[in-house]
Amino acid sequence: MHPDIERILISEEEVDSIITRIAAEIDRDYAGDDKRLLLLCVLKGSVVFMGELMKKLTVPVEIDFMKVSSYGSGTKTGGKVNIVLDLLRQDLDTCDILIVEDIIDSGRTLSYLCNYLTLKGAKSVKTVTLLDKPSRREVDFTPDYHGTVIPDYFVVGYGLDYAERYRALPFVGILKPEVYTHH
Ligand code: IMP
Ligand code: MG
Repeated sequence: MHPDIERILISEEEVDSIITRIAAEIDRDYAGDDKRLLLLCVLKGSVVFMGELMKKLTVPVEIDFMKVSSYGSGTKTGGKVNIVLDLLRQDLDTCDILIVEDIIDSGRTLSYLCNYLTLKGAKSVKTVTLLDKPSRREVDFTPDYHGTVIPDYFVVGYGLDYAERYRALPFVGILKPEVYTHH
């Protein structure tokens, strides 16, 4: 445990079995010679999830990275999505992109990225998220694959941060509210 964590929401073992299940679904859907699966990690929060997911896939994968910002430094979303690191490749018309996201909150990041990559000419665009907070949606968005739905808590660990901290925790935990209210 960690002194700033109120409680563990999803244990290391639970996350592992969730990702095993998602990997089997993706393996099933992307089997076949006509697919060229590109896992697109949305930096930085998705890096742990993507690392675990790619190890469990048996279909061939390529990987790439984008970075967007929609959150400020706190726990409130900014509303507008900015591309901080773009995908610089010319072969998107042959790529079946699977955007790998840590968590869906308002839905803005993934709906923006799906539109953006489709406009850039990707052969196909799908999404996978480890965590989903549907109660917080501001734009209608449903991922193609998802790990688990969670209530409206601010969570950290397994890649997720608060002010760049807690990403390395091996579980998903609920942050003590006093950590982000006493500043
Ligand atoms: P959306 O665009 O509002 O769906 O925001 C998605 C992004 O917000 C995620 O990729 C996270 O980086 C961040 N985010 C949303 N909820 C949480 C949370 O509970 N903990 C940490 N980051 C979060
Ligand atoms: Mg993120």
